[in-house]
Amino acid sequence: MSDESSRLKLLEILASREGETVPGAFLTEKLALSRQAVFKLVGALRDEGLDIRSIPQKGYKVQNLAETDAMSPTLVSLLLRGNPVFHTCLYFPQTTSTQRVIKKLAAQDAPQGVVAAADEQTEGRGRRGRSWLGGTGKNLQFSVLLRPSLRPGDVQLLNLAAGISVRNVLRKHYDVAADLKWPNDILANDKKLCGILSEAAGEPDKIYYAVTGIGLNVNTAATEIPDGLASVATSLLLEKNRFVPRVSLLLRILNEFAEHITMLESAGGKAELLSIYRKSCDTIGRSVRVIQDENEYCGTASDITEQGALVVRIDGEDKIFAAADVCHLRLKQGE
Ligand code: BTN
Repeated sequence: MSDESSRLKLLEILASREGETVPGAFLTEKLALSRQAVFKLVGALRDEGLDIRSIPQKGYKVQNLAETDAMSPTLVSLLLRGNPVFHTCLYFPQTTSTQRVIKKLAAQDAPQGVVAAADEQTEGRGRRGRSWLGGTGKNLQFSVLLRPSLRPGDVQLLNLAAGISVRNVLRKHYDVAADLKWPNDILANDKKLCGILSEAAGEPDKIYYAVTGIGLNVNTAATEIPDGLASVATSLLLEKNRFVPRVSLLLRILNEFAEHITMLESAGGKAELLSIYRKSCDTIGRSVRVIQDENEYCGTASDITEQGALVVRIDGEDKIFAAADVCHLRLKQGE
């Protein structure tokens, strides 16, 4: 067994008896390893940030795994068991960009479902060539490798699926009134909580791979929001006034995202996903300002096309935007 699978097996045993002390002799037998080797594995899991207690003369125990904030790749990989799409998590205390990490893995033929998470990105990237400032160790910054059976023109649908997923998780599990701004910004009280970037490589009729990256502000305090962004950015901590453990948040997003990807690839799934998106997207029905390249347009967002583009009614005519920046201008009718 590799060190990685031994770590996974050890954590699996400890997690299956969470809160109990598991005898050292039981672990050495189950893992077919010496006490010394088990001790080393425990050390490696602690280095990932897991709180594994040694109970002298008795054994080891883990507790409160659901409260784990440290981005332990072994814990995430263990909790991904049963997820139909995502399976392996790689973790980087610091990297340039998790998008870049996943693209490199994709070029080396890595399978769909690998997740790369980082505590700090030195070249974090946002949409439309912007940079993404995700801070250090407080937020979620991760990218996933997908090899979807979609046409290249449908890549935007992955983006929409990711947006719906994050919105649902924040609403269902964290009681955050998260709004989805086309294509996939998540806002709370009109401030940005999360950004999503999907990129793909392929031929005109085939996607080789797609990379979806998610940056979600989780435990950033007001004083940690970069200069000039305080009026436009927020975090879960600021919205709910409580610390949010990142591992369970990440897992919930990956579970929800996997469901939507599975939907997208099923017969009739695109139409189903678009129908959910149209209902979930707060942009539809709003007066908007759309900025595309050097041009600005004002109108009313009226629909989403089958490929996920935004339809805006401008001076009595529909204009379709496949990629653009959108500002919500006024309240929806009836608000
Ligand atoms: C945006 O709103 O402009 C999209 C932001 C996407 C940021 C995430 S953080 C993880 C992944 N790695 C990157 O460099 N970017 C994405």
